[in-house]
Amino acid sequence: MGISRVEDERDVVVTGKEEMADGVVRLTLRDPEGRPLPAWEPGAHIDLMLKEDLVRQYSLCGDPGDRSSFQVGVLREPESRGGSSYVHDVLAEGDTIRIRGPRNNFPLEKAKRYLFIAGGIGITPILPMIAAVNGRRADWTLVYGGRTRASMAFREDLQRAYKDRVKVRPQDEFGLLDLPALLGKPQRKTAIYVCGPEPLLAAVEAASQKWPKGALHIERFAPKSDLAAGPRSSFEVELAQSGKTLQVSENMSILQAAANAGVSVMKSCGEGVCGTCQTKVLAGEIDHRDSVLDDEDRAAGDTMMVCVSRAKGDRLVLDL
Ligand code: FES
Repeated sequence: MGISRVEDERDVVVTGKEEMADGVVRLTLRDPEGRPLPAWEPGAHIDLMLKEDLVRQYSLCGDPGDRSSFQVGVLREPESRGGSSYVHDVLAEGDTIRIRGPRNNFPLEKAKRYLFIAGGIGITPILPMIAAVNGRRADWTLVYGGRTRASMAFREDLQRAYKDRVKVRPQDEFGLLDLPALLGKPQRKTAIYVCGPEPLLAAVEAASQKWPKGALHIERFAPKSDLAAGPRSSFEVELAQSGKTLQVSENMSILQAAANAGVSVMKSCGEGVCGTCQTKVLAGEIDHRDSVLDDEDRAAGDTMMVCVSRAKGDRLVLDL
């Protein structure tokens, strides 16, 4: 997976806030002076910097060809830590907010066929992907799951536009997605793109184990539960650009240690899911604990998310 590192930060005005389904609103954001917004590609997300220390990532779900606005879909999370409830309850049309990005950890790669699997609000990055592959007449299918039909944003638009390419499978009518049946036999030249809640992502990972390497593409907005845990020991980090060497203790991240030494690294989620703090590694073995990098990136061993990942050995040298 290639990671795009365009980092633009700007104010935008909320020019639209519409209810798209039970618990889902779509925000439309525009430049205050009507200037074009940065270019982006399907799969990209932006950070909404809602308040001090309240930064959340949302996938862009509009048309990449329309530079006049960004659109994001926001689900009211029952366990909201403040982000989704702020968007639903406080943010209003006419408000100005700061955004950062777009950033793309989920790029759409060329394939002969595509199988898109979306769970709930995970439909948002898939929407521009579908428009793109449909426009180039590639073969594709979407399997869209959710709790109920009423909770599934964009469902009617998708069915109207793409008819039987779209399989709508609300859980209260169909039960859990039958992934082995939906995935079928492993196929060459078919890319699987999936976004949704963690149990769905884990189930697709398990069901696609026999598929060719690189076929599965996953977008996460919550950390993989098994990654952050695990023993932590202290290690040394050399920051090659700043000429500093730091000790990172068991209860500290590299990002915190660097900040304490006066070297700031841009961060957003702080939990290894957004890719903002990605840092080049010049030497040393990495203990990857993020939910962004794929197996290929990890094997390359030259980049890491310094908000969560650590050293396998005693020492790392970073391009900071
Ligand atoms: Fe999001 Fe590190 S800040 S991955």
